Amino acid sequence: MIIRFNMASIGKCSSIYWTTSPEFDFPEPSSGKLGLCKSFGFSISGTHVKTSFVAPLRAIEASRTSQLNGKAENIQRAGCDSNQVLPTNDCNVKGVHQMSTIGNSSNIVWHKCSVEKCDREELLQQRGCVIWVTGLSGSGKSTLACALSRGLHARGKLTYILDGDNLRHGLNRDLSFRAEDRAENIRRTGEVAKLFADAGVICIASLISPYRKDRDACRSLLAEGDFIEVFMDVPLHVCEARDPKGLYKLARAGKIKGFTGIDDPYEPPLTSEIVLRQNQGLCDSPDDLADIVISYLDKKGYLKA
Ligand code: ADX
Repeated sequence: MIIRFNMASIGKCSSIYWTTSPEFDFPEPSSGKLGLCKSFGFSISGTHVKTSFVAPLRAIEASRTSQLNGKAENIQRAGCDSNQVLPTNDCNVKGVHQMSTIGNSSNIVWHKCSVEKCDREELLQQRGCVIWVTGLSGSGKSTLACALSRGLHARGKLTYILDGDNLRHGLNRDLSFRAEDRAENIRRTGEVAKLFADAGVICIASLISPYRKDRDACRSLLAEGDFIEVFMDVPLHVCEARDPKGLYKLARAGKIKGFTGIDDPYEPPLTSEIVLRQNQGLCDSPDDLADIVISYLDKKGYLKA
């Protein structure tokens, strides 16, 4: 398979690439294009997606929010399986609105819906979470993300990749590579990832995300366990030797300023859930690395509702 990178300058970002396939030249397994995805009424053939969902009424019925002293209390996962009759979440009931000021937004009220995360998870037969892949440019983050997405798709699991380069083509096109902009890049991506996880999707975020503080802030947006940090622990000299996009060369020549690892910092995670590193200088295949992450998800119960 021949992989082409198109260098682009979008908004304030330059030298970013749209990633549709691995950074390196690995054969695409035939499982990448599935004829059928059996689990939950999806039929995926080529680019056509047909859905035949029948919303599980029991799940929706079981989803409730209790209103106590005018405060909405979320009934967590257990509530979804409960037969308990709970007060319904009638947003028109007087006095139940909880006004908030969040950042610069004042007088806002959280609007709850009786279809909740656990209902969507039951529909999808998986648990929504965020797999946050961090590491230097050229460490194989996007390659892992694609392999992981492919591996989970083959198992009938719904994933979505948030790739740093790709997001800078749209949502984050106004951001540069200054520290403040990188922080905003990670904050926005963390918020979007949280929405995907809430949708029940296994969201794979693949960004350099060089600062520990920013990654930890994303972690704090999610419930305990739902943020799974994967550190691509590949030394700078290896990434630089690979230089899949030719950017290290440009950075060394002083043509790109503030390049991560060269003249900009990268703070490695201290306690990530998964560390992927080379085995005695040998690289595991992307599919082997993806299997490590998939085994982790399986063990932690994310591959069933
Ligand atoms: S992050 O630091 O803000 O997390 P992000 O993952 O979105 O970075 O984007 C990284 C990609 O931008 C790299 O893969 C590379 O293609 C490109 N890039 C362009 N300039 C830089 C730079 N100064 N430092 C790192 N990556 C850069």
